[in-house]
Amino acid sequence: MKRLRNSSTTAGLFVIFSACQYLVASAQSPDSQLRGFLENNGVVSLDPGGGHTQTQIDLGQALFFDRELSGNRDTSCATCHHPQLATGDGLALPVGTFPDNPGALGFDRIKGADREFVPRNAPEVFNRGSSLWKSMFWDSRVAEDEDGNFKSPAGDQLLPGLDSVVYIQAMLPVTSRDEMRGRAGDLTFEGDINEIAEFADENLHGIWAALMDRLMVIEEYRTMFAAAYPGKSLDQMNFADAAFAIGAFEIEAFTMLDSPFDRYLAGENSALSPRQKRGAILFYGQAKCASCHSGPLMTDQKHWGLATPQLGPGKPPYGPLDAGRVLINNDSKDAFAFRTPPLRNVAKTGPYMHNGAFKDLASVIRHHASPIMSLSTYRPSRQLEQTELWSTVLSDWQTKLLLAATLDGSQLPRRLNNRDIGDIEAFLESLTAPDLESRLAETIPDRVPSGLPVEGH
Ligand code: HEC
Ligand code: HEC
Repeated sequence: MKRLRNSSTTAGLFVIFSACQYLVASAQSPDSQLRGFLENNGVVSLDPGGGHTQTQIDLGQALFFDRELSGNRDTSCATCHHPQLATGDGLALPVGTFPDNPGALGFDRIKGADREFVPRNAPEVFNRGSSLWKSMFWDSRVAEDEDGNFKSPAGDQLLPGLDSVVYIQAMLPVTSRDEMRGRAGDLTFEGDINEIAEFADENLHGIWAALMDRLMVIEEYRTMFAAAYPGKSLDQMNFADAAFAIGAFEIEAFTMLDSPFDRYLAGENSALSPRQKRGAILFYGQAKCASCHSGPLMTDQKHWGLATPQLGPGKPPYGPLDAGRVLINNDSKDAFAFRTPPLRNVAKTGPYMHNGAFKDLASVIRHHASPIMSLSTYRPSRQLEQTELWSTVLSDWQTKLLLAATLDGSQLPRRLNNRDIGDIEAFLESLTAPDLESRLAETIPDRVPSGLPVEGH
């Protein structure tokens, strides 16, 4: 009896204690509540990285916009990561090399009749200079482990000297047949043979060397490479020097850490509106967004199955399915799991998810809150502006069951009402850097050394 009374007293005290805690919490100002969450979650200002020389950045800018890097001379990095399209392409799935109208951007770029869409959404490339970045791509197939060792699809063919995932990533798009390289037998628009496409897929050294040959016959590139790497002679250089410069440009041009949220992190309480603060308190609190969109980068760089509708050509060997991370690590827990994306400037970088399945933030947040409902009611005509993709959405029950079975729902939020969704959206809008469009427009060069047209100029 005594014991019972004791435990009910304890329970009573606990109720009173919790009520007090609740009152204290609700009496807290939004700022002290939000700052408490940020501190508990280790969210501090992001380090910008950088430290490249101007000659390296200039070389990288030329290479990033130069279609000379694609076998068919019709696609540059900027085709899919264009400053006018918030460093993406504005599409759910990209149109790669051999389009009907090279030079056109975004929706205006027409896919070659016998070509496929690139199977995944082109991500934004903001703020990739932070030393916290340890992975690239939706499946982290380029990654750095805790001991500082790098993994990439290039395996032991990777040229030495590149010490971050950003530089290593820049070696790869030129080797992809769909994105930049093209098919054996392709002729360029000018009728030239595409010598880059003739190499076997495994012969990365051949591809990289042939691209360097292309660049080094252009006098202006020889001058730029020599200026970028003073201690090195031109014949010591290889495509890793091009990739490093491209990374240098991406980092220096697309790092912008003065969004309202970044200013809030730096201590400025008035940088966020009351509504944005309410959204942030949900994001870091009850809605649990920060259990995955965590830390200064707003991503844990881990992989989660969110039962995102499947569309597009998919990835071998399971096309038209794209099984995601499991294709890289063979871990069945990672079937249909994709890397948590970072979120700065996210209001400008749609369509969203690894395949662009959703066109606006409200739909994305609703999907997180009730993935199965969102999957089963998904309407391609409402979400996909590329009408050619409508018929590729896999809406059979087997696919839906597969996606439902691989859903990693334990950390996802439940019960977000319309007001919550609106507040979270307002918070996500506070991640946009000021004057984004005009600052990005300044990163587009007037011309490139090959003399090929510069997209969007
Ligand atoms: C045809 C479109 C296309 C072209 C051209 C292209 N990319 Fe991408 N890029 C993509 C797609 C799609 C992905 C995501 C692929 C994946 O995750 O499997 C991507 C991923 C990336 C990423 C990884 C970002 C991250 O955090 O995951 C970077 C960086 C990048 N591209 C830079 C470049 C550079 C540099 C070039 C030129 C050498 C280039 N891209 C050319 C479409 C393109
Ligand atoms: C369990 C981990 C997890 C949680 C919790 C989570 N997300 Fe995500 N989020 C992801 C993953 C993984 C993706 C990409 C899924 C895909 O491509 O299929 C994503 C995608 C997104 C995107 C699209 C970004 C882009 O560039 O495509 C936004 C926006 C987003 N999440 C916001 C949120 C918000 C807001 C919350 C809280 C309501 C939240 N997330 C909670 C893992 C998570």
